[in-house]
Amino acid sequence: MMMLSGSAIDSKRFRSMMGTFPTGVAVIATEWNGELFGATINSLTSVSLAPCMLLFCMNEGSTTGAAIRRRGLFSVNILGQHQSELSHRFTGQLKNRFDDLAPAFSADGLPLLQGAAARLCCRVATVHKAGDHDIILGEVISGEESMCSPLVFHKGAYGSFQRA
Ligand SMILES: Cc1cc2nc3c(=O)[nH]c(=O)nc-3n(C[C@H](O)[C@H](O)[C@H](O)COP(=O)(O)O)c2cc1C
Repeated sequence: MMMLSGSAIDSKRFRSMMGTFPTGVAVIATEWNGELFGATINSLTSVSLAPCMLLFCMNEGSTTGAAIRRRGLFSVNILGQHQSELSHRFTGQLKNRFDDLAPAFSADGLPLLQGAAARLCCRVATVHKAGDHDIILGEVISGEESMCSPLVFHKGAYGSFQRA
């Protein structure tokens, strides 16, 4: 086994080490002023069960994060194992990332992606500044799940879940 060293940390090493922690992948999305916004995240964490709350961390310069802060509502679309292209699309340079996707819409008009493993709608509870990111804490107001397996992200690559 490789020896662990305790040398000083920089963002590249931190990112690399955190890459050893496998996560699911989600697209957080909202609608603001008639425009749809969405971004891929893997910082999603459940926080509280009563009430049901979750959080994610968003780069402070994110256009999707700004739209979510303004609208005060967002959807969380937890991607299924066949949706790595969708994950890529929501990190890319596309101006309208929803083109050709025909999303469904929640009662509040939040975009919901077809084929997701789960889709939740949330109200922004608080936003905390943390370094160059915002921690966006949301209260879950509705949700639904499908039977599909999740997309997994590990060391910069996509994979699928396998039981141990
Ligand atoms: C698998 C994966 C996970 C990501 N997770 C996050 C995240 O948790 N927070 C974040 O700010 N950016 C994350 N990103 C980068 C954003 O998806 C990317 O910067 C996106 O363009 C931000 O949306 P915006 O263009 O609306 O600002 C992730 C990218 C990938 C490929």
